Order: sequence, then structure tokens, then C-alpha cells
Amino acid sequence: MKKHITASAPGKLMLFGEHAVVYERPCIVTAVDQRMRATVEILDAPDFLLEAPDVKVTGYKKSMKDLGVGDIPKGAKFVEIAIKNFSEKYGLETGVKVTTKSEFSSQFGFGSSSASTVCVLKALAELSGKKLSNKQLFALAYKTVLDIQGKGSGFDVAAAVYGGTLYYVIGGKKLQPLEIDSLPLIVGYSGVKADTVTLINTVKQTSNKYPRVIEGIYTEIEKIVDLAKKSLTKKDWQSVGELMNINQGYLASLGVSTRKLADMIYSARDADAYGAKLSGAGGGDCIIVLAPDAKKLAVEEAIAQASGKVIQVKTNAEGVRIEK
Ligand code: PMV
Repeated sequence: MKKHITASAPGKLMLFGEHAVVYERPCIVTAVDQRMRATVEILDAPDFLLEAPDVKVTGYKKSMKDLGVGDIPKGAKFVEIAIKNFSEKYGLETGVKVTTKSEFSSQFGFGSSSASTVCVLKALAELSGKKLSNKQLFALAYKTVLDIQGKGSGFDVAAAVYGGTLYYVIGGKKLQPLEIDSLPLIVGYSGVKADTVTLINTVKQTSNKYPRVIEGIYTEIEKIVDLAKKSLTKKDWQSVGELMNINQGYLASLGVSTRKLADMIYSARDADAYGAKLSGAGGGDCIIVLAPDAKKLAVEEAIAQASGKVIQVKTNAEGVRIEK
């Protein structure tokens, strides 16, 4: 039996349908080429050790029988609960040491928690000789996210497992890869860290007060997602951009856009982008912009002018894999 295995999984960007996806509407997510890596090592002692310096966890140690017990530092939660869930479902006789390394900042909202959950589970499964299908891997990783967050559609878990660009419905009820080889996408980071669960709860409160209005918005977003799916596969970037702008209008109506995000979005549009919107829960994190190649530099400058930071990513990245 091998003593250690490294797996990696991609980060993600939501293209269309955030928030509405929590309420059974579809969304479109793409995997990005910045990856999270986890090396899992078998230990002789029945201990769990974690080194996750990117999220300020070093020298973390506890007994395997105490997994999930007591106060767990934020940066250790997903890995620890993933191992606990794996052990409960498939059995794990040994101790493990996990070392994670990220190619992107956990501040960007690229889904570092889900990606690390997925690569830890993948490496653990390989190490212990359990060949998990992507479906089984998704189910266990999604359960881990729900155990910790209580809420979430699992779109980020799906991107980490399957990669590519996916048309997705909560819980993986629909999971359809879209054939897109390129996407002229520009990403701008707002410098503000968003808290997904807080934003989901804020939207829920608005929806409790105005249920018909908010349900109506979700239904409109669903229509946008379905049109965007067609436009994306036809590479009709003009329409994709317009649909991004419309989607952004509804996200603003849900109350999750901010002045900073709006500044960046309007700057990018003024520089002749096809369209721009926030990506993910809102409140901060990133905007995504679709722009003609000839306008790329101007758009990047416009984002910087609005105090955003351009992050270079490629979309449609490969899903989880074992690293040699
Ligand atoms: O904040 P992010 O990037 O994790 O995106 C959240 C997207 C939501 O639709 C608001 C929540 C979800 O789990 O789908």
C-alpha cells in the first residue's frame, strides 16, 4: 500500500444563477485553472495531523477518535469533517496526516473549502484502495459542506469534482457538462471577503418579506440561465454579455451587489465589455467580465481604475485528479 498520495482540484467561478440555485433553479459554473492540492499520508499512530499554512493552520493534531469533537479552527474544519465522514462511511483503520497547498488566496471566493474537501477525499480514497466514482465523491464532499455550512447548492463541489463548465441543479440533481473550449473571461477581485452563508440568509429574509417578488426574480434568473446555456455553446459572446448584465440587475434587486462591485462592473462595461456581473454570493469577492480580445487590456485597466485587482485565470479547467 502506498504511504502518501497527492490530489488536486480546481477552484470555481459562478457564471450565472447564484442564489436562485439554492432554490432549485439551475446555474452555470466553470472550473478555473488555479488549484487546491492535498497530500494525504498514512500514519502509524491513530492521529490526525494537519498542515494548512495558506489558512494559517500549522501543527494541528488530534486523535482520530476525536474528529469533529470540540472547537475546530476555521481553516481545519472542512478537512477534518471530510476525514470523519470518509471514516464513518468507508472505514479508516489508520491515522492520517494532511498537507494542503493552494494556488489561489482563500479570499477570492474561488471555493477553496470545497476544493480542499474534494482533493482530501480523493487522495484518501485512493490511499485506502476505495475507488470512489465521481458521483460518490461528490456525495461525500457535498455532505461535508452541508455538515459545516448547513446551506449551499454544492455547485462549487461539482466544479471541483467534475471540472469543465457545468449546467447544475442543487445536490447534483442535474449535472450537464457544456462543450465550451474557451471563454474570454476577465476576473476582478474587489478586495472584500464575502461570507456566503450570511448573504444567503439576508436574501432569505428579503424573500420571507416579499415571497412572490423574490420567487419571481428566481424564475427570471432561471430563464437567463437557460438562454445563457444556449448562447455559451454557440459562442455568442454578445448575448452572453447581455445576459450577464440582466443577471446582475436581478442580483442587485436581491440586495447582494455593493457599491464597490457596481463601480468595477460599470467601469468594465464603459470600457466596451460585452457584459459584467458579480460572481458568487455577492457582498464582495469577484466580478466576471466578458470582453472582446481587442478590449481586454482596456477592461483590465478599467477594473484597476475602480480599485479592483485583475486575476488571471483560465476557465473550463480539469476536475479533481491524482498528482504524480
Ligand atoms: O460565495 P460563493 O462563491 O461560494 O457562491 C455562493 C453562491 C450561492 O448561490 C449564493 C450559494 C450556493 O451554494 O449556491
